[in-house]
Formats: sequence, structure tokens, C-alpha cells
Amino acid sequence: MMDQEDLIGHLPDSIAARVKSARMVKNRAVVVMDASGLSGSQRKDIEQAATDILGALDDVGEVRVAMMGDRIRRRIVAIGSGKGGVGKSTLTTNLAVALQKMGHKVGIVDADIYGPSQPKLLGNEGAKPEAEGEKLIPVPSKYGVPVLSMGFLVKPTPALAWRGPMAGNALSQLIDAEWGDVDLLLVDLPPGTGDVQLSMLQKHKPDGAVIVSTPQDLALIDAARAGQLFEAGDVPIIGLVENMAGYQCPHCGELSDPFGKGGVERVAQGVDMPFLGRIPLALPIREGGDAGVPPAAVEGEGGAAFGKIAQEIASWLND
Ligand SMILES: Nc1ncnc2c1ncn2[C@@H]1O[C@H](COP(=O)(O)OP(=O)(O)O)[C@@H](O)[C@H]1O
Ligand SMILES: [Mg+2]
Repeated sequence: MMDQEDLIGHLPDSIAARVKSARMVKNRAVVVMDASGLSGSQRKDIEQAATDILGALDDVGEVRVAMMGDRIRRRIVAIGSGKGGVGKSTLTTNLAVALQKMGHKVGIVDADIYGPSQPKLLGNEGAKPEAEGEKLIPVPSKYGVPVLSMGFLVKPTPALAWRGPMAGNALSQLIDAEWGDVDLLLVDLPPGTGDVQLSMLQKHKPDGAVIVSTPQDLALIDAARAGQLFEAGDVPIIGLVENMAGYQCPHCGELSDPFGKGGVERVAQGVDMPFLGRIPLALPIREGGDAGVPPAAVEGEGGAAFGKIAQEIASWLND
């Protein structure tokens, strides 16, 4: 088994000088580097070079590089909803991928303790984060968006429900991880207004929140309540998103509105929150989710709707 010296020995001096630790975990090389003083593109080049060089070694099946550096201002955007099943996780994944394509350095925190779904949506189920000292190293995904999920942490036994402090500590571990040069964290929240939301407000106050709802009345009332919790905690609402808005029949192409139409936009006006756009109910969106291939990562209708909302969020961040 190669040790730290062996691994470093394969790297050119300029890169080797930045290695803080290097080790093999089974067939995976885990390297932590000091990236202080480097520009974004220099970081990328060094990370890539180390990945290529070590990845070419016979004993190395996979390389994970974590770049630690100057504290960058990292912004947090929470994605919330009043109830589950409205597409919060799907939206989070696709917004992250769309924003990444636009040049943002995005990471996902899957904070849904009841139903963590980001590993599946990003196609890296079964992955396990490494740790550097006390800190977790986020797991890379094929789409350039690293992720940490409650699903990666030890699950409490069914008899033992997640309690407030436990949920809060788990959330802190995910958010205070070694995120490297990620400058935007999207947090996929559990539905409603529970312990994780409170812990976010108290310890990791988001810079803004996006609220997702389907057009049904009941979902809307809960969504407005979720939005108001953030506003009460001084977190600006970036806006509301209507998901599963209108259904296009895959056979005849006819558009129908099984859950009503425009409800979220009306509610947004009523409670004075911006409306960011709507995502249609479309089979490829569900299939993409099940297959771990986010529609935003491929060209197509579904991807375009996510891209538009990502634009809205990007311009909110740039203001
Ligand atoms: N716009 C959409 N069109 C079709 N299916 C969708 C859409 N949005 C979400 N889904 C599907 O609905 C289910 C719930 O979505 P999910 O993102 O897990 O919701 P939440 O995180 O709010 O519980 C998933 O099976 C997902 O693939
Ligand atoms: Mg979810």
C-alpha cells in the first residue's frame, strides 16, 4: 500500500509542496492541499494535474483532491417547501447543475433527514465522504457539483427519532465541511418548519431562500408558511417556484392543468414574494431523477425551465 511519501513522490515539486496530507483509502488516493494565495484557475489546474498524475498510477483507482485555502465568502441558499413530494430535491439538483454550468462553484447539502435523495439524484449513491481531521470532505459527482448528505451520515435506529440537537449537529457537520473553493451552497431542506430549519436560522443563516410549491391550495398554504418562517428569521426570500405546473400528455401533446394553474404566482403576489418561474410536470424530469441524470445536465425542455430559474437566482446573487 502506498503511503503519503510514495504519493507525494509522484507529484512535481510545485504541487508536492502544497500537499498537507495524502493517503490511500482502499484504492482511492485522498489528497488535501493548501490552496492559499492561488487564483481560481490555478487551483483548478493543480487539482487537475494531481488527479491526472495520481490517477494514472497502477494502484490508484480513484483520486479525491480537497483544496483548502483562504476563506472565501461562501453563500448559502436554502431550498424549502411546506410539504414533501413537491420537487424540492429535484429542483435543488437541477439548479445546482444549471448554476455550475453558468460558472458558479456550487455544492449541495442534502439536509433532508427524513428522505435524503441527493446521492440518488446526482448518481453517486453508495459513495462515502472521507474526513480530514474533524472535517468531512464532500463527495464529487459527475456533474461538477460536490455533495454531502444526511444519508451519508450514520442513521439513527428507527426507534430513535432524530432529535433537535442531533439534527442540528449533523447539519453543522455538512455545512462546515471542507468545501474548498465552492462559493455557493444549495441546501435541500426537509419539508416544513422543523428542527433543521430552526438550526439553519440560528447557526447557518442562509443568504436567501427559495420556496417550492405545487399549484394545489393546501401545498400553497404550507409554502407560504415556510416562506414566512424564513422572513421572520431575517432571511430574504429569493422567490417562489411552481413545480409540476401543467401536464403535457406524452401521447397527444395536449396541455392540461390537473392541479390548477398560476396558483403559486398569485400567492407570491399576495404575500409579496417574487415569483421565479414554473417547471412543468414532465416524465423526463422524473426519469432523469430516477436515473441519476439531472435534466439540467442534458439539453432539452426540462433543462430549459430549470435554467431560467437558475438565471433568476444568479442575478439575485449578483445584486
Ligand atoms: N416537474 C416534475 N415532473 C415530473 N416529476 C417530478 C417533477 N418534479 C419532481 N418530480 C418527481 O416527484 C417526486 C418527488 O420529487 P422530490 O424532488 O423528491 O420532492 P421533495 O424533495 O419535495 O420531496 C420524485 O419522484 C420526482 O422525480
Ligand atoms: Mg426531497
